[in-house]
Amino acid sequence: MPKDFFWGNSVSSMQTEGAWNLDGKSRSVYDVRPATATTTDWHDAIDEYHRYEEDLDLMKAMNMNMYRIQISWSRVIKDGDGQLNEKGLAYYDRLVDAMLKRNIEPMICLYHFDMPLKLAEQENGFMSRRVVEAFVEYGKQMIDHFADRVKYWIVFNEHNLYFTDEVFNISGYTKGDRSINDMYRIFHHTMLAYARLSHYLHEKHPDLKMGGMIAYTPAYPATSKPIDVYEARKSNEFLNENLNKLYTTGQYSNEVMSWIKNHEIDYDWQPGDEETLASVHTDYLAFSYYRSTTLNADKVPADEAPNRYLNYGFENNRFLAKSDFDWDIDPLGFRNIITHTYNCYHLPVFPIENGIGCRESWDGVHEIQDDVRISYHRQHIQAMKDAMFEDGAEVLGYLGWGLIDIPSSHADMNKRYGAVYVNRTNHDLKDLRRVPKKSFYWFQKVFKNNGDEL
Ligand code: BG6
Repeated sequence: MPKDFFWGNSVSSMQTEGAWNLDGKSRSVYDVRPATATTTDWHDAIDEYHRYEEDLDLMKAMNMNMYRIQISWSRVIKDGDGQLNEKGLAYYDRLVDAMLKRNIEPMICLYHFDMPLKLAEQENGFMSRRVVEAFVEYGKQMIDHFADRVKYWIVFNEHNLYFTDEVFNISGYTKGDRSINDMYRIFHHTMLAYARLSHYLHEKHPDLKMGGMIAYTPAYPATSKPIDVYEARKSNEFLNENLNKLYTTGQYSNEVMSWIKNHEIDYDWQPGDEETLASVHTDYLAFSYYRSTTLNADKVPADEAPNRYLNYGFENNRFLAKSDFDWDIDPLGFRNIITHTYNCYHLPVFPIENGIGCRESWDGVHEIQDDVRISYHRQHIQAMKDAMFEDGAEVLGYLGWGLIDIPSSHADMNKRYGAVYVNRTNHDLKDLRRVPKKSFYWFQKVFKNNGDEL
């Protein structure tokens, strides 16, 4: 394995930090989401705000050399478009410095679905170009502030989700009919923001690296029927390839553009947008990968937008094992997308989220035997090595998702990804103690030997 390969952990702020109302943090849309019988609120998460030294010690003990964090926009800029909140920014200064002290390279993501509440309520989130302006301003300030310490950047977590119905949950959208026009408009706005920030980063700080990032969930045809093959390809073109084309050329995929024209989509294309998109500058293609899917075209209504095929045609793959949460486990799918992405775009690829969510609880005494997790990561790291050494792909590193337990994206502590157990449940914070599971010691060995032995 390459000497400078990155091994690490990856999180979002609202799933990790807690301290939702401390030190001048203004509210994001997550702060007002109520708990339910089966989920927690987002207020405490795993309280990393106060426990980051301990968490970084654990990451160091696992021999990690990268930690991908997110800056919470509403923590550092009042209401997203107000004054800089020095106390909030100071938290990220402390966190980044504590990483560097341990030789853990930071990667910063600027947006992971947590729109400042005021901008969601008053401006309808990324529906508005004013929000794009506020976001770009925030992004520039963060890039300038951390440029001397943080080399690796991401603008949008799982950017392709803005080209699916998920967009209405993650972009600060509070008003509207969830139409395809609105979906395309929000996506276009975020793409303009990405292009501007990637351009700015390179103009001002040529040594820094900007990554595009998608949630890579490849769709296989459910059968070899040509219509299944056609729709699976089309779904992949809209959800995955379109964005990688935009990241690398600044142009929408021909097939997407043709669909936009034929369907008279109003996506707020304005004079100057073409030049803005053309200024895009991407250094690496990052993605999350958990599973693959299959697409059954018989279930997709005629004339449905390709962005929505999977809403209807999604099926599990009968040839694959499943996780506790019924997600297909597909290491070869991982190899396939690494190789495919590198073949197509010739940029280094970077899987920055991978992992398996399991139902786990701790009895207070015994080590949690998470052999399923060890097997999952072993198979996926091996698949990545096959993509590198047999298929010739260039890969920068491998980051696991939530390797210290955090609430799942549905705010549920019953679904855990960690090699370290965090002692809390949905409605009982207990002592938030960090307890290594069996996989902790496996990762420790693998990261120490740079992935040479799994
Ligand atoms: C990614 C998100 O899609 O997947 C994370 O970026 C999320 O926020 C992760 O937690 C795993 O998904 P889930 O729903 O199992 O937590």
